[in-house]
Amino acid sequence: TGAVAHELGYPLYAVGGFVRDLLLSQPNFDVDLVVEGDAIRLTQELVRQIGGRLRSHRRFGTAKWILPDELLKAVQPEDNGLLDSLDFVTARTEFYEHPTALPTVERSSIKQDLHRRDFTINTLAVHLNPDCFGQLIDYFGGRQDIDNGKIRILYNLSFVEDPTRILRAIRFEQRYNFKIEPDTLRFAQDAIARRLLRKLSYKRILQELILILNERNPLPALTRMGEIGVWQHILPEVDLDGLNYIRLKRIPIVNGWALEHFYLREIKTWLIYLVIIMENLTAESISAISARYKFDKYIVRVIEEADLARQLAASIDSGDCTENSEIDAGASHFCNETLLYLLLCINSENGWQYATAYLQAKDMVKVEIDGHDLKALGIKPGPVYSKILNELYRMKLNGAITSREEETALVHKFLKEGIF
Ligand code: CTP
Repeated sequence: TGAVAHELGYPLYAVGGFVRDLLLSQPNFDVDLVVEGDAIRLTQELVRQIGGRLRSHRRFGTAKWILPDELLKAVQPEDNGLLDSLDFVTARTEFYEHPTALPTVERSSIKQDLHRRDFTINTLAVHLNPDCFGQLIDYFGGRQDIDNGKIRILYNLSFVEDPTRILRAIRFEQRYNFKIEPDTLRFAQDAIARRLLRKLSYKRILQELILILNERNPLPALTRMGEIGVWQHILPEVDLDGLNYIRLKRIPIVNGWALEHFYLREIKTWLIYLVIIMENLTAESISAISARYKFDKYIVRVIEEADLARQLAASIDSGDCTENSEIDAGASHFCNETLLYLLLCINSENGWQYATAYLQAKDMVKVEIDGHDLKALGIKPGPVYSKILNELYRMKLNGAITSREEETALVHKFLKEGIF
């Protein structure tokens, strides 16, 4: 890539989070590349010389290079799907405004591009052109701040310009176990006191909250949000001291279970955190928050299912509801996140066994015969079909029958005994 950029006379850099995480030895497959030149033209050239595809946004001067398969195989033989494209951005550059600009001015464009960023730890760049490959560009002391574990803004108005950075500062601080540097903290708290978060749409606040809740361990960030005073501008209805931390801390365990057994299902981990954060609220507060953040139907549904899941967990724990079909009567329509929330609400070893056995059976059990088979058995089509198939599903879920033959035999028995 660097060689192709070089041919075009463009300095090219890997920047931001990728470089930060490289220095911290953390995995990061989000490679952002800044070009002092035309990012789209560079990507076109890469596609021409190496292959792959281009997706560009002319308006923003950005281009995505979807890497060719052969290259992917060479860089990640096990095909883990983590790296499949590279993003190129044109550095905001004086070079465009003054076409006759000298190279020094050109070079300052990467500096300008980096100067607009949130924190010094995100301002590092690595040269990729062959003549200076691997050279670290550090205009703002990012290296030192990474070494000393400091989150520091680059200019005093940073939080005023973009108040989401208050939440980003907390996220990075907690993720890397860094510390927000005192002046930066003062500017953040000043921005909070001036209610600058109101400048943001709730959608953007929600996006940032989701990023925090998707962190590996989001709990310290919640505490920090309370400490810094930003939580009361996000969900003032929720008292952070009153949360069920035992339940919250078990989320990674249940997630581990889900990864093993539910690996085909999509799970929004952040939503499970949110459900627990909101589980003690009144219906009025829940509707107010849902309206404020414009939660979509799915989020509202998961939050609303929480009550039912808690009740069901209590009857599983008490031994009132233990058979798969009994649990299914309450849980069959639960969203995936609610099913995991159900597990989180279980408090007994037996309850855990019952609930996990149900979830595993639910995933595997399928009635094999269908309407055609029932017709072939001489049953007249009608509502009786779904009654029979539901009963077969119930029996199969409980393990009373396991094969297609047993299903057919059972239908014969129903007919003989005139059950349906
Ligand atoms: N950025 C910023 N202000 C924001 C959001 C982003 O200045 N409100 C800058 C940061 O400097 C960051 C870059 O844009 O390096 C890309 O941001 P993002 O996509 O959030 O990536 P990362 O910094 O890598 O964060 P993460 O590790 O969470 O993906």
